[in-house]
Amino acid sequence: MEAIYIKNANQLITVSGASQAPKKGRQMSELGIIENGGLVLRDGVIAFVGPREEAERYIDSLSVEPFVLDATGKIVTPGLVDPHTHVVFAGSREQEWEKRLQGASYMEILQQGGGILFTTKQTRAASEEQLFEESKKRLDRFLLYGVTTLEAKSGYGLTVEDELKQLRVARQLDQRHPVDVVSTFMGAHAVPIEYQSDPEAYVSLVIDVMLPKVAQEGLAEFCDVFCEKGVFTVEQSERILEAGKKAGLKPKIHADEIVPFGGAELAAWVGAVSADHLLKASDQGIQEMTKAGVIAVLLPGTAFFLKEEAAKARKMIEAGLAVALSTDRNPGSSPTESLPLIMNLACVNMRMSPAEVLVAATINAAHAIGRAEQVGSLEKGKKADVVLFDAPNYAYLQYNFGVNLVDTVIKNGQVVVKGGTLCV
Ligand code: NIG
Ligand code: FE
Repeated sequence: MEAIYIKNANQLITVSGASQAPKKGRQMSELGIIENGGLVLRDGVIAFVGPREEAERYIDSLSVEPFVLDATGKIVTPGLVDPHTHVVFAGSREQEWEKRLQGASYMEILQQGGGILFTTKQTRAASEEQLFEESKKRLDRFLLYGVTTLEAKSGYGLTVEDELKQLRVARQLDQRHPVDVVSTFMGAHAVPIEYQSDPEAYVSLVIDVMLPKVAQEGLAEFCDVFCEKGVFTVEQSERILEAGKKAGLKPKIHADEIVPFGGAELAAWVGAVSADHLLKASDQGIQEMTKAGVIAVLLPGTAFFLKEEAAKARKMIEAGLAVALSTDRNPGSSPTESLPLIMNLACVNMRMSPAEVLVAATINAAHAIGRAEQVGSLEKGKKADVVLFDAPNYAYLQYNFGVNLVDTVIKNGQVVVKGGTLCV
């Protein structure tokens, strides 16, 4: 495999020094920028990162002539990491969105059998091949926006076979698409129509049948629950997450999205890796998450699209929480693959700084999906996942919003996007 040497970057942004624990509080502003730096990629991993002269001495010692990428006028960052998506599904929900524009609420639509349950119908009807093709298109778009690793949840099957189908498609995508896909089992995403009169029976199905099968086939690393008024109670969520832990799946939780519900507190209690959404999280919940080391995965695109007030990121960062950012890509509350747009919304609607936002979408996001030793920063030995943005500095990346500034994406040492165009 050939070597790549990236030089002349305006800013070489390493986000280094946090592979063991996520960046919290003030550390979230530390980007580890190397002025006049050089980055050498070899055999799919980062072989050298540091001052330019040293990079060139390193190259001279190699037996191969590297392919040189001139990053003049650009910034170089780690591949972006999206720690919360529902990217494997069939169909779309623009009709529901039109209804919401006319005043219907997200939860009303779900309670009438639409929303997640509408996508469930379409996903159940789709073959594995069809699901793969639809989802692959979305992964292509993620790559075009600089995302090289993402998490994907099940939760639109809601039967044993259809949940397994979704997770198998996620595994196929991981194996056949350049983007790395980390899987989460989310059988507890909604109570399916056929169990509406007996939600407890569905919780039992999740715990007694789905979880053991998912674990047995090694189809997921995490278990997630939509803990929300009218969906799964705190008590049901706790049982599901504890059962997940016993089956070897690490807990995650959709917490306090629509109403304050004790989801943040539950995340701390069960030792969740992350609690996500948190729009209505209580002060106590935030404190308990900080003590328990739970990462807050914030989704300002979802708040925007549901016309809700965004999560209180400043309060969380000041409380010492590690914050990560994600698209929440799904067909209902966040139909976008643009993590850079989410980063802009995090600045504008949550008052995060451009530096904090970059940390939140790289190393902290990697921690939220258990991949911080492989990705999320430009450090020797990590995967050669790199993005060149056509931006003179990192603040410009979030300032010039709603456009795609990605010039080049390298995944596992291979150029997969060139001049803003997919080349795989
Ligand atoms: O994270 N809130 C629950 N689940 C998703 C939305 C899924 C959907 O609407 O299809 C979310 O926002
Ligand atoms: Fe979600």
